Amino acid sequence: MRTEQPKMIYLKDYQAPDYLIEETHLTFELFEDHSLVHAQLVMRRNPERGAGLPPLVLDGQQLELLSVNLADQALGADDYQLTDSHLTVQPKSASFTLDTTVKIHPETNTALEGLYKSGSMFCTQCEAEGFRKITYYLDRPDVMSTFTTTVIAEQHRYPILLSNGNPIASGPGEDGRHWATWEDPFKKPAYLFALVAGDLWCVEDTFTTMTDRVVALRIYVEPENIDKCQHAMTSLKKSMRWDEETYGREYDLDIFMIVAVNDFNMGAMENKGLNIFNSSAVLARAETATDAAHQRVEAIVAHEYFHNWSGNRVTCRDWFQLSLKEGFTVFRDSGFSADMNSATVKRIQDVAYLRTHQFAEDAGPMAHAVRPDSFIEISNFYTLTVYEKGSEVVGMIHTLLGAEGFRKGSDLYFERHDGQAVTCDDFIKAMEDANGADLTQFKRWYSQAGTPRLAVSESYDAVAKTYSLTFRQSCPETPDKAEKLPFVIPVELGLLDAKGSSMALRLAGEATAGATSRVISVTEAEQTFTFVDIPEQPLPSLLRGFSAPVKLSFPYNRDQLMFLMQHDSDGFNRWDAGQQLSVQVLQELIAQHQQGQALHMDQRLITALRSVLSDESLDQAMVAEMLSLPGEAYLTEISEVADVDAIHAAREFARKQLADNLHEALWLRYQANRELSKQTPYVAAAEHFARRALQNIALSYLMLSGKPEVLAATLEQFDTSDNMTERLTALAVLVNSPFEAEKAQALAVFAENFKDNPLVMDQWFSVQAGSTLPGGLARVKALMEHPAFNIKNPNKVRALMGAFAGQNLINFHAADGSGYRFLADLVIELNGFNPQIASRQLAPLTRWRKYDSARQALMRAELERIRSSGELSSDVFEVVSKSLA
Ligand code: TRP
Ligand code: ZN
Repeated sequence: MRTEQPKMIYLKDYQAPDYLIEETHLTFELFEDHSLVHAQLVMRRNPERGAGLPPLVLDGQQLELLSVNLADQALGADDYQLTDSHLTVQPKSASFTLDTTVKIHPETNTALEGLYKSGSMFCTQCEAEGFRKITYYLDRPDVMSTFTTTVIAEQHRYPILLSNGNPIASGPGEDGRHWATWEDPFKKPAYLFALVAGDLWCVEDTFTTMTDRVVALRIYVEPENIDKCQHAMTSLKKSMRWDEETYGREYDLDIFMIVAVNDFNMGAMENKGLNIFNSSAVLARAETATDAAHQRVEAIVAHEYFHNWSGNRVTCRDWFQLSLKEGFTVFRDSGFSADMNSATVKRIQDVAYLRTHQFAEDAGPMAHAVRPDSFIEISNFYTLTVYEKGSEVVGMIHTLLGAEGFRKGSDLYFERHDGQAVTCDDFIKAMEDANGADLTQFKRWYSQAGTPRLAVSESYDAVAKTYSLTFRQSCPETPDKAEKLPFVIPVELGLLDAKGSSMALRLAGEATAGATSRVISVTEAEQTFTFVDIPEQPLPSLLRGFSAPVKLSFPYNRDQLMFLMQHDSDGFNRWDAGQQLSVQVLQELIAQHQQGQALHMDQRLITALRSVLSDESLDQAMVAEMLSLPGEAYLTEISEVADVDAIHAAREFARKQLADNLHEALWLRYQANRELSKQTPYVAAAEHFARRALQNIALSYLMLSGKPEVLAATLEQFDTSDNMTERLTALAVLVNSPFEAEKAQALAVFAENFKDNPLVMDQWFSVQAGSTLPGGLARVKALMEHPAFNIKNPNKVRALMGAFAGQNLINFHAADGSGYRFLADLVIELNGFNPQIASRQLAPLTRWRKYDSARQALMRAELERIRSSGELSSDVFEVVSKSLA
């Protein structure tokens, strides 16, 4: 908790460090009621910062200083200055050692930052600024040091002692204690430090690298989870091979370890050689984890592994450059997931997520550029913008340079900057230098916040046989800036003729026609591209594969969208045409609801989805995606003023219409796929995910009929399926149904069967928190009293309150403000013991400008209540004050 007023930190104030740390030698003595940390830092004056010996200012928070020695001289209280955030000493020479001993309290650390306990296990989380809660240090990513770490703890309770790098020595100690020493030869910033001590079992394997080195792989978990590690191990080996093949990147240490912990603020952390994971991002097996969970494990294992190069070997100079490692690494893990599964489906899911959540962030009070220019609390900037939009920005570079050019650029980047702490500009420079390209204007994507709009209009000249597309780009004002300069927007496009075939594309001035799909770069506020030799009026397919993170508009009518759904050669745009058609139809229903009219749905949506459903040649996962109507959160995002009730009523009405009209076709598809599921043992692979995805969305539509045979099928699936994907869907379908007795029974059976598996209980909480039937808040409050609930565990908070506020919009936005009051109370409580989680749970309230004036007033009042609730963490302070500004 702060004692000083939180202050804004600016990128423009960046200065290199006055001192460097060459070597870091740490000894941890772990006890039940405190721990001791001895640090020996081998330091020198940073020659870059000139002569003279300025004071050495070390970061440190919540540390009890027991001793400090400078150049082997013990310092007395008069020889240093101590505040609650810094220790300042005066070096006498350019090279020296600094030894400190501090006492800390991991056993009461509920913020889960620094050294803390998760259950009976000690673990660490140092990114971004957690290392300063472990020892006095220069806790900034441009200070890179080698580390040697000795851990001493009771042998019986903590048989496993781990840290970064390679194990070099271990042995017994006194009083039933033992010790182990680890050495990490690679220089790294302190945020990549890790330590684990616990009673853990591990699954072991090996990986032989491209140069034939054998690397030991270990996944450590609590003994009861040893049967849930195989999927993560397989994912790890696939990631290691993929990074060699796709980026030429080889692993560097002799050992790579993953540890699963139950209490973790985020998904996982890429500590050098010792990744620490939220158990939800490691553990997966058919009986307990859904297909989505399996895919998430695969993606996060890959993400953290890929950081070994994009983040660890080449790290960030300062935290404003966070997207340098996160945007690039998300881009890398997306490419991996696309290669392991269906690339089009992966793209659809990523874009749907970006458009719903990142676009909302970019339009809200916390909007910031991919490389922000200022922040109060860096933990608040692990955002959708830095991660997901950052990945899109890297993806646009890939599109502009082509796969080969991009690879040349990444090779140069890794080679040029290995062992350095660098900036987004360095990344761009490597891409430019390797390709002779000029990305000067492109770099505006890093500095300008907000989602650009791209309005497109067409004109066809039948006599000249030319077709022109005019692009107008603009970017809305964001809290940081009103005026925006034009972006470089790569637009991949094609032109379809009346039969749906792709036309050859030749721009005016070009000698010959090229491919039927190509990328043009829109670089001006308004720009026209004219295609020649166009024999008939074409239908454009724009922004294929979502080639830029913009809001594109083109005046398609519904028949044209249906045509694109059928004929576009770009799978992503076929889906997107369906989404645009659905949006048009839903917006019409929303308007009818608002005007108090009876709802009448455009039957073309039914026709379009009927043909999707009967197309046996389509990837079943695509069929499932196309059957999914845009979510309420997305409909909110694209509304000027979101009418919560109308959106919910319109979408539910449309779902019922589709369910009624497509009942036969859905039933056939459901039964065929369920039959196959019964005959096939669970496999975590794309075609099986696809089959179950279609089966499950079909079941959720079918249940809207309330027919007894559907209830029977749902119960059969719930009772007899061998995997969590089918079982949880059946449970969710029951929970959202009117069959109260069956629902209660299924919930009770499920809870009884899985009461000892916290990750499965998280699913059980989420399914109920997400139920949009009336009475949502009361159900959530009752569930908080359930023995499996624990507010100190972030996964539980996300599963229950996160799902309620994020996915149950009709209940959360109850007109009486009860949902807002509930969330504000929660944030105030969380602020007291876990500021990072408090600040994240606050996000839904920050979107108050989207709603009607009555809801706006209620939401603002709750934000104000939080603001004046007492001592706020810098995390919550920043979000609340920016939201009310
Ligand atoms: N670097 C981590 C990742 O790649 C992010 C992370 C893990 C993190 N734990 C954190 C960020 C705690 C802030 C606080 O996903
Ligand atoms: Zn990351």
